[in-house]
Amino acid sequence: MPVFPYPTTHDVPLILAPMAGVSESPFRRLCRQWGADVVVTEFLSAEGIRRENEATMSKLRFGADERPIGVQIFGADPDAMREAAALVTDVFQPEFIDINFGCPVKKVVRRNGGSGCLKDLDLVEQVIRAVRSGTNLPVTCKIRSGWNEEMRDPVKIALRCQAAGVGAIALHPRTRTQMYTGHAHWDEIAAVVEALEIPVIGNGDIKTAQDALRMRTETGCAGVMIARGSFGQPWIFRQARALLNGEPMPAPPSVEERFAVAIDHCRMVMAYETDLVGAALEFRKHLGWYVKGLPNSAELRRALHTVNSFDEVEGIFAGYLASGWHREALDAAADSVVAAELDAELLETEH
Ligand SMILES: Cc1cc2nc3c(=O)[nH]c(=O)nc-3n(C[C@H](O)[C@H](O)[C@H](O)COP(=O)(O)O)c2cc1C
Repeated sequence: MPVFPYPTTHDVPLILAPMAGVSESPFRRLCRQWGADVVVTEFLSAEGIRRENEATMSKLRFGADERPIGVQIFGADPDAMREAAALVTDVFQPEFIDINFGCPVKKVVRRNGGSGCLKDLDLVEQVIRAVRSGTNLPVTCKIRSGWNEEMRDPVKIALRCQAAGVGAIALHPRTRTQMYTGHAHWDEIAAVVEALEIPVIGNGDIKTAQDALRMRTETGCAGVMIARGSFGQPWIFRQARALLNGEPMPAPPSVEERFAVAIDHCRMVMAYETDLVGAALEFRKHLGWYVKGLPNSAELRRALHTVNSFDEVEGIFAGYLASGWHREALDAAADSVVAAELDAELLETEH
């Protein structure tokens, strides 16, 4: 089994994916508490870091309880990437620096950043070598399967990244043109695992803990990276860990527990952010995710979607609990545990 270039608690680490506007310090801490072995910051512009742009620098703050943590940077200018890596290393000392070769957003790829680099693999190598020359920390990268269908060749891209010296690589097996449509081609993760000597982290379409186990079994990936599957359910990491250990999956939290996690998350944000009004507005999306799927939750969602301060949240939750509607959720949760156990048994018989 290839060895990770940074310390991990488990042989097959579960990793919280880099996500702009989501994998921020409070959510990273929460996911670490719920069993994520490693976390990664959202992508940060190398130019912003090298110019010490205030907004960018503030996103680099993290706590000791988030470690091991990777700082993800993006940019197509090797000099800027080297300088950014050097500054991040000197000032913040994360466990590793991750290079983003996957971002599909127009604003980023227009300047060849993110997945834009995938059109030019010489540039990919140059960027990796530049970052490595700016830091003594391990350097990793996250790629997509290619720029578009014609250029789709994850093995070729990954081999070039390995040759340039990355210590691990995460693959989101979609092309840039696919954005987030279609499905992630897990067979491509298996092919890259087969071709490389360094750890390959699988990513894409893990919505449940069972999906994490399935990805590991089907692809042989060295680590599993979860992005959208963590929205409103950071306990997915604890559940996935149990399944990877061959243990029964812990039941999802009750509605009361789910609300307690959301409140915990609110408190972490309040402790971290300085602009609490802006932070509360930003937090509405998390609140929506925490209550997704609860019975009769339309009104609850509407109320949460209009909060202007964190103080309002507890009262809204209490109102919902007092209505008694959540009792139906308890029954639904019990059903989902039974379904999960059935799935796990089926998987065992298949492999
Ligand atoms: C809101 C959001 C923000 C994202 N931001 C980043 C980012 O900053 N860096 C990155 O490498 N990928 C980013 N991604 C991509 C995810 O890390 C991941 O590759 C993708 O969502 C597929 O995984 P999933 O199916 O588990 O969501 C983002 C995805 C989402 C949904």
